[in-house]
Amino acid sequence: MDALEALGTRASAVRLVEPAPSEALLTAALRAAARAPDHGMLRPWRFLLVRGAARNRLGEVLAESLARREPGAAPEALEKEAKKPLRAPLIVVVAAKVQPDHPKIPEVEQVISAGSAAQNLMLAFHAEGFGCMWRTGSPAYDPAVKRAFGIEAHDHIIGLIYVGTPVALTLERNRPDHTQFVEDWTEPATAG
Ligand SMILES: Cc1cc2nc3c(=O)[nH]c(=O)nc-3n(C[C@H](O)[C@H](O)[C@H](O)COP(=O)(O)O)c2cc1C
Repeated sequence: MDALEALGTRASAVRLVEPAPSEALLTAALRAAARAPDHGMLRPWRFLLVRGAARNRLGEVLAESLARREPGAAPEALEKEAKKPLRAPLIVVVAAKVQPDHPKIPEVEQVISAGSAAQNLMLAFHAEGFGCMWRTGSPAYDPAVKRAFGIEAHDHIIGLIYVGTPVALTLERNRPDHTQFVEDWTEPATAG
């Protein structure tokens, strides 16, 4: 698939199964992620790879977060939360490791850079036939979850990117017509 086809066909894949991308593809996708635009060369990205049994550990982290947010949560709800990482063979937790008081580069630009890295990662997998789903939810904003991932409270978990082989048809939502977001200030060419 060429680049424009990959860009023009990317869609979330909700149901993902084994196999995960190969090590070679994972490496290529992470390399693509680390090519994200990056004002000031701050490299404000971190990628935590969660695979195999480590997904259970991630599930525990998510369930503990739910129990803190909702102390009365039913055991079934906690169990459901704990099983969420089993929805894909690979989860890449993407964090923006920011310098909030950087003298030149505003924090929002650092977060955008991490978002661009996440998108590069997803597009690389999609171009090679794998599916992805970008998720966050309340745990992403929980300081204790950040601690569990080894990042600071002021950093941002910008996505849990679920990756695997897509089974169901990708969610083909109504795609907007791009022209509704575009304004064109091109001056008409002047004759002569
Ligand atoms: C930062 C971010 C966080 C998201 N978090 C969730 C989420 O927690 N749950 C969810 O169902 N979709 C989430 N989404 C949206 C999906 O990843 C997806 O983009 C959306 O369903 C639209 O489908 P599409 O990717 O096929 O266009 C998130 C998207 C972004 C950019």
